Amino acid sequence: MDTSPLPIAEDREGYYGPRNYEYWLSGLVEAHKTLALANAFGVPRRRFVELGAASGRVVRHFAYLKAFEEHWAFDLNWRHVCWVNRYLPKNVLGVQNSSIPTLPLEDNSVDVYQAQSVFTHIEVFELQWLAELRRTLRPGGIAIVTATTSNDLELMTPQWPGYGPFTGHPRWNDNILKELKERGKIVLRYDGERSYSSNVLTHIDYIKDVWGRMFEVSVRPRLKDDTQTVLTLRKR
Ligand SMILES: C[S@@+](CC[C@H](N)C(=O)[O-])C[C@H]1O[C@@H](n2cnc3c(N)ncnc32)[C@H](O)[C@@H]1O
Repeated sequence: MDTSPLPIAEDREGYYGPRNYEYWLSGLVEAHKTLALANAFGVPRRRFVELGAASGRVVRHFAYLKAFEEHWAFDLNWRHVCWVNRYLPKNVLGVQNSSIPTLPLEDNSVDVYQAQSVFTHIEVFELQWLAELRRTLRPGGIAIVTATTSNDLELMTPQWPGYGPFTGHPRWNDNILKELKERGKIVLRYDGERSYSSNVLTHIDYIKDVWGRMFEVSVRPRLKDDTQTVLTLRKR
């Protein structure tokens, strides 16, 4: 039974504001989607690492489900790391990382990575981060990451959370999908005090081509309410 407190709304990275139950349930749903992919890829349940775990919306459920032997929760934000280590069970370890792509993990040691809504904000060093995931994954291990891709932009409606920030950005234009196809990636930057402040748009063909040189890339079929593309990157 989950007996940990919930983080206050300010520590939830904008997920569900003060709506406690929706916040908690959303993490449980994500955790089960990840486990379904891990099962589908036949990955052993030894080491799970969440990159950009924030205050543990998802990893808290793995901890209570005892889903893996080890659960690691990395984030840039020290406040999140402290929250995780203070309030989540002891089978989760929060560790701060920097924006330089390096993690204090051994080669070939991770079975499953998750990075939900993280590569959507990594404006530089994206490929170096992917190389770091690849270095640390065991052969056959998977990284489940989300990206805002051309597939999402084609379906975007005014109800989506990204609609206002994307279409209101000075870089946005009516031909952005065509431009994205040519460039592969476009970064929408914002002035802000957070440790990350951009939205990264990526063309699905760029992911298949360039990310595909490091991993076997699978695109998970869209589920209801998806606003980002879920990718499974398997180390050969
Ligand atoms: C939009 S939140 C998503 C939080 C969490 N993945 C979830 O789904 O609830 C993005 C998180 O990623 C973290 N982040 C952004 N870039 C990062 C990086 N390069 N390494 C680690 N964490 C990062 C931010 O500090 C923030 O906590």
